[in-house]
Amino acid sequence: DAKHLYTIVVLGASGDLAKKKTFPALFGLFKNQYLNRKTHIIGYARTKMDRATFEGHITKYIKLKTNEDKAALPKFLELCSYQDGQYDRDADFQNLEKRMVEVEKSSGATARLFYMALPPSVFIPVATSLKKNNYKKGVVIRLIVEKPFGMDLESSRQLAKELGALFSEDEIYRIDHYLGKEMVKNLMILRFANVIFGSVWNRHSIDNVQITFKEKIGTEGRGGYFDEFGIIRDVMQNHLLQILTLIAMESPVSLQAEDVRDEKVKVLRFIPPIAKEDVLLGQYTKSADGKEPGYLDDKTVPAGSKTPTYAAATLYIHNERWSGVPFVLKCGKALDQQKTEIRIQFRDIPGNLFSNLARNEIVIRVQPNEAVYVKMMNKEPGLGMKTIISDLDLSYSSRFNDSVIPEAYESLILDSLNEDHSNFVRDDELDAAWKIFTPILKTIDRREIDPVPYAYGSRGPAGVTDFVAKHGYKRSEQE
Ligand code: BG6
Repeated sequence: DAKHLYTIVVLGASGDLAKKKTFPALFGLFKNQYLNRKTHIIGYARTKMDRATFEGHITKYIKLKTNEDKAALPKFLELCSYQDGQYDRDADFQNLEKRMVEVEKSSGATARLFYMALPPSVFIPVATSLKKNNYKKGVVIRLIVEKPFGMDLESSRQLAKELGALFSEDEIYRIDHYLGKEMVKNLMILRFANVIFGSVWNRHSIDNVQITFKEKIGTEGRGGYFDEFGIIRDVMQNHLLQILTLIAMESPVSLQAEDVRDEKVKVLRFIPPIAKEDVLLGQYTKSADGKEPGYLDDKTVPAGSKTPTYAAATLYIHNERWSGVPFVLKCGKALDQQKTEIRIQFRDIPGNLFSNLARNEIVIRVQPNEAVYVKMMNKEPGLGMKTIISDLDLSYSSRFNDSVIPEAYESLILDSLNEDHSNFVRDDELDAAWKIFTPILKTIDRREIDPVPYAYGSRGPAGVTDFVAKHGYKRSEQE
């Protein structure tokens, strides 16, 4: 159980994130009894909504799979209420305060969690209003913030300065929802709870690491937002880099948040800024059948935009464990499949005892169909001595068929209620991440790199195969 009883306020409650992620996650926690039954949830946003509209909005993405789920929903809704208001008007935040005091009188809550599901432009105005009107001495305050945390190192530092003047680092929870994903949380256990991986987890045995994020959908409906940011800021600088960090970091002293985050920051500081020649960019065009629009066909995207919707980048970690090992990060929208996976590819076997050998690989499939599998050589059954590459396969759906994999947001909201920062981004970690990406982002923003066109629904820009091969990846001929 959480140490405190909270009142939760979701700011930006009428938006997409609140509807798709925040409220379904809160419901998930509620129905599984992780949320105290007295926890009130107040939605706040500018849109005027009556009760029915609000309920419709927050339940749209809630999946009711069982009868228990169906029975839990009305009880959950009893805890939820909505209040509209501007993001910079004290009077509106005073009204919110009145409402909070009212619900706290009945629940006895002594702590407040503000979830900022907001566009970056109102970030500081809201934080300022909250500090002024809803911050009380003696009341525990938690503030969950969502990316984008700035556009580059300077703007991120500016934001950190402004936010830091209002709330302490202890009060701030910067979400990277990939840190709440089951397979991402599994990385530390795989690495530090298995003796068989420890001694090979370095440049002597590992040739290269591939971290791949693919989505089938384009930027439909978010073209305006996306064009300002591009795929590197949208997923690579945060989600993929977090995965890299967990694969590459040294063992933390303990699982305490600061011990874990100290190691994460340390490994990031060993990574120099990405070089221009280590980047490949792409932008999608119409699908081959002409049915799906190209990126530039989106009315909200400025004509002639060079914003990448695909990027591959190779990062190097200049420490004793990883020196010379390429970490290839690839991500893209409007591709042939939806998949996030990590491939740790080992070196070639020395000597030539057997012909036709493929490399060992540890593959961690983050989504969909969570799995860990190891590609290894085996004797092909039969009278000969032929080798065959085979998988030692731990597919979650067959091994853990009764267990439900929690949603990333459930896991992270629960962590914040328990005041556990280990899966949230610390200020110096964010700084280190921006240092790696800012120079290449500036080059891209100056339009100095032309994205290679690729068709919607394809495997990405031509040249990706050569790019990964150049950075060490060897496709098995046996596959
Ligand atoms: C978000 C990005 O952070 O992550 C989106 O802004 C992306 O562009 C999403 O689609 C992917 O998250 P998930 O959990 O669906 O893999």
